Order: sequence, then structure tokens, then C-alpha cells
Amino acid sequence: MKGRYGDIWDELFSGLWEANVEEAYFKNKVALVTGASRGIGRAIAESLSLCGARVIANYHKSEKEITSLVESLQNKHCAIEALRADVTNGKEVERMVDEVVKRYERIDILINNAGLKRDSFLALMSDEDWVEVIDTNLKSVYYVTKWVSRIMMRQHEGKIINMSSLSAFKGLAGQANYAASKGGVISFTRAVARELGRFGIQVNAVAPGLIETDILKDMDKEALKELIQGIPLGRIGTVGDIVGAVLFLASNHSDYIAGQTLLIDGGLGI
Ligand SMILES: NC(=O)c1ccc[n+]([C@@H]2O[C@H](COP(=O)([O-])OP(=O)(O)OC[C@H]3O[C@@H](n4cnc5c(N)ncnc54)[C@H](OP(=O)(O)O)[C@@H]3O)[C@@H](O)[C@H]2O)c1
Repeated sequence: MKGRYGDIWDELFSGLWEANVEEAYFKNKVALVTGASRGIGRAIAESLSLCGARVIANYHKSEKEITSLVESLQNKHCAIEALRADVTNGKEVERMVDEVVKRYERIDILINNAGLKRDSFLALMSDEDWVEVIDTNLKSVYYVTKWVSRIMMRQHEGKIINMSSLSAFKGLAGQANYAASKGGVISFTRAVARELGRFGIQVNAVAPGLIETDILKDMDKEALKELIQGIPLGRIGTVGDIVGAVLFLASNHSDYIAGQTLLIDGGLGI
């Protein structure tokens, strides 16, 4: 398998290709992934775990899904466990981070992935939909990053990757709440990258375009079809398309990158 993707990628994905946790790139790194029960977060948690990291897979409601993920990876001798917390609740986040530190004594990688959307035209938007989206996609990033950064500052190292969206760049009708939350994530990423850089902590974001997960299932089929036709790479993205960039930003190969947001959208946002 080695040599297939060039040195950097072979090294990063060594666990994935060979299921050899002992030699894997992220061996002994402790990674907290929020919203790991489904979609993009699940794929990131799985990949980090297969690449040797000790993964704490946060979830909120999808107990069955997270249990199947954890069991399948534990059967492959990966170190992964689930931790329930509603990331919009500051107290629950504080307890979650305390629990991780009690068990593992450190946190090397934080993936702020949990998110949702509640699309509607602004004139018709309910206050509840505005608040839920801002709380889940942005306030959660504030809570989790605040508590985890205290641990990483003590360690003098850490990688934080936030989940933004193409929607922050390309105003999509019906997504005023979602776009505002994801634009906030980009600005938050820049400000916090500046604060934490001197502590050896790199904070970056990724902004996926259209990725095939549950989040798209209530999207208008015609609007989705039209958007897909406009993608220069000619297809909708998969969770695997996001994983590579996240593993790169979580690795030491990105040590001189801070405050950036990487669009992963098949060119839709060009
Ligand atoms: N898919 C796309 O096209 C796309 C594009 C751009 C950006 N993104 C972003 O990528 C991230 C993942 O999206 P996805 O498509 O994978 O969505 P998804 O399949 O709907 O999964 C969302 C995940 O977020 C978790 N979550 C939601 N609210 C939570 C809360 N209060 N506390 C803890 N976890 C919570 C869910 O956990 P439970 O099910 O356990 O509650 C689930 O694991 C989101 O931030 C999303 O905005 C996605």
C-alpha cells in the first residue's frame, strides 16, 4: 500500500490503509470530536481512531448510531469511547471536557463538528429556528473551544478544527441563520487562532460544500439538483472528501497554518 499517495499521505493514513494502530500516525493523540454519531463527524472520528488516536466521540441524541460506531472500532482494537453532551449547554460541555481530562489527562485535537440547519426564508423564520441554529453551530464552538483551550494552553500544543460551510461565503436563500452561524465560525477561528498561536495551538476551519449526509435530506430536491449541476467537479461530496483535509489540519504537516478556512466544495464556491 505504501507509496500510493506520496510520503505525507501514506504517513497520515498509515492506520487507515493497514489497520495497524501500533504504527499509526496519530498514535497516543487524544482527540475530541463533537457530533460524532452521524455524517461528517462520524467519518472523522472513525478515521482518527483508525489512525491511532484515542477518540472521544461526542453525541447528543443518536445513541444507537454512536454505539454501533464505537463497537465496530473497538472490535478492531481502536481506542474510542462515546460521551454524551449537548454542546449548546455550557455546563454539559464543561462536564464533558472535565471527564476527558480525568480519563486521558490531555486533549491534543478538537474537532468542533456538531451542527444542524433549519432553513426558511427570513421573513418566515421562527425565532426558535434562528436561536437553535446559532446556538448549535456557533455558541457550541465557543463553549467547547473555551474549555478545551485551557487544557491545550497548559500543554503548549493542540490542534483545533472548526466546521464552517460554503454557505458562509455563498449566500444561499433560506439560510440566513445557518450562513450567519457559519460566518461566525470563520471570524471566531481567526480571532482565536491569534490568541492561541503563541501557546503552540493552531486553530483552523474547513468549509464543506454539498456533502451527502442526513443534513441534506430535507433540502428541496430541485434546488439540490440545480446546485449539483453547478459544481465544477461534477458531483456531490462524500464524507471522505472532508476527512483528508481534517486529518491534514490535525497533523504536524499543518504546523505553520493558523486562522485559515479551507473550502472543500468541488469548486462550487469559485
Ligand atoms: N453535509 C453538508 O453538506 C455540510 C455542508 C457544510 C457544512 N456542514 C457542517 O458539517 C457538520 C456536520 O454536518 P453533517 O452533514 O455531518 O450533519 P448530520 O449528519 O446531520 O450530523 C450532525 C451531527 O451533529 C450532532 N449534533 C447536533 N446537535 C448537537 C448538540 N446539541 N450536541 C451534540 N451534538 C449535536 C448530531 O448528533 P446526534 O445525532 O447524536 O444528536 C450529529 O452527530 C455541521 O457543522 C454542518 O453544519 C455540513
